[in-house]
Amino acid sequence: MTQIKNICCIGAGYVGGPTMAVIAQKAPGIKVTVVDINEKRIAAWNDADLSKLPVYEPGLDAVVGEARGRNLFFSTQVDEAIAEADMIFISVNTPTKTYGIGKGMAADLKWIELCARQIARVSTTDKIVVEKSTLPVRTAEALKSILENTGNGVKFQILSNPEFLAEGTAVEDLHAPDRVLIGGDPDTEEGKAAIQALVDVYAHWVPQENILTTNVWSSELSKLTANAFLAQRVSSINALSELCEKTGADVNEVAKAIGQDSRIGPKFLKASVGFGGSCFQKDILNLVYIAQSFGLKEVADYWEQVIIMNDHQKRRFAENIVRTLYNTVSGKKIAMLGWAFKKDTNDTRESAAIYVADYLLNERAEVVVYDPKVSKEQILADLDYLGTRSEAENRDLITVVNSAYEATEEAHAVAVMTEWDEFVALDWDQIYNAMLKPAFLFDGRRLLDKEALKAKGFEFYAIGS
Ligand code: NAD
Ligand code: UGA
Repeated sequence: MTQIKNICCIGAGYVGGPTMAVIAQKAPGIKVTVVDINEKRIAAWNDADLSKLPVYEPGLDAVVGEARGRNLFFSTQVDEAIAEADMIFISVNTPTKTYGIGKGMAADLKWIELCARQIARVSTTDKIVVEKSTLPVRTAEALKSILENTGNGVKFQILSNPEFLAEGTAVEDLHAPDRVLIGGDPDTEEGKAAIQALVDVYAHWVPQENILTTNVWSSELSKLTANAFLAQRVSSINALSELCEKTGADVNEVAKAIGQDSRIGPKFLKASVGFGGSCFQKDILNLVYIAQSFGLKEVADYWEQVIIMNDHQKRRFAENIVRTLYNTVSGKKIAMLGWAFKKDTNDTRESAAIYVADYLLNERAEVVVYDPKVSKEQILADLDYLGTRSEAENRDLITVVNSAYEATEEAHAVAVMTEWDEFVALDWDQIYNAMLKPAFLFDGRRLLDKEALKAKGFEFYAIGS
């Protein structure tokens, strides 16, 4: 029986940081070291001021505060941490490829392969290597081939243990996961022992019946499938939101009516300006690519439609702003409330706000942004990354401010992009009074009370009604 005493996690990002912090909190007998090549990020994880952690997640400061320095460590000493670990989680980024074969669709496994080569080079004792990153089905095969060709006699077992946490609720999700999924090789004694070793880590706090074990390929494919199904629900309800706007139906009422059917269920039926985040789009594109590479055209087309619908939803929200403002927003001040891809996170990757802002900037609007957790540098970096215009132009056209009141003062229109709780509690009378009239309000999240805001005088538009 292998009992894990020392864990190393490569990648101190949105997954590696919170996941390892919770393992360290719940299993105080295991030393957990999270390593990263990004020195700034590691320094932020080690900051004495817990409000400066690089990842904003409700409750994470308390978990890190409890375990850090006891059995949780953040370090840039990657080789040392790998060498002394019994179990190594790989939790590095796996973004969509931006070059070469599979450009724009396949997952870029460059960082995964670098990790495997580094583990192979540094290891002198047997290790269990755990895929925590989201990976295309059959990646474990490539990892195995790299790890097993070192010629130094070190034995590796490879497990797949995809992460299902959602940002904004990461700590909650990690403390009480619907399930933990562990894929391994059930046909060998070593494979079974490795699976059991990881089961034992989670068993410190997760009930046994919530820990599922499968073969490696099922585990890898289940992660992509789970994200595809979740995103599909959002695109399905968003598709209906447009039909609701044409027919007088209300998408919230439709969602409630269908969600009460226990076979459909009430969750993930919130119409929005479009899903964002670092994973839904990338993982579906990856699924589409895999299906295409097996020649499964209909399967690929089916899933690609989820992305096509999402792009349409973002675009039509922006188009509607321009159309409503008498077909021009040139020189008009548009206040965007929220930039993060959802509430309770500082993550902006693939946020719908980026694309809506880009569209409005192309129409020469003066865009003013306020988000409670996202910095000006991040907002500008997100726009620069699109490459639509020069960095100088972006800095000229967009303003980032520190409060919703400042953003909306003398604005022609307000667009709610992220469902932050604080936007509900704003003094909307004050905002109305300070705006130009007619005061247009576009709710991309179905966050605000339509009737109450119309009564205050706003020209109100909400997705799906
Ligand atoms: P991230 O970009 O926040 O973090 C990845 C980190 O890995 C970065 O800090 C980077 O510097 C580091 N890194 C890359 N190569 C390295 C190397 N060779 N050595 C050391 N450090 C290295 O990414 P993330 O959001 O944490 O996602 C990680 C993986 O988890 C992805 O595959 C993603 O699909 C998956 N995932 C993400 C979420 C989520 O909510 N963000 C949820 C489930 C699964
Ligand atoms: C998602 C999944 O929920 C996680 O299970 C998964 O681990 C993760 O992806 C991942 O692999 O990265 P996350 O992207 O953090 O988590 O956040 P979600 O809550 O899923 O929201 C994704 C996007 O969909 C957000 O922009 C959100 O606003 C949008 N959304 C979600 C809707 O528009 N409507 C909904 O009903 C739900």
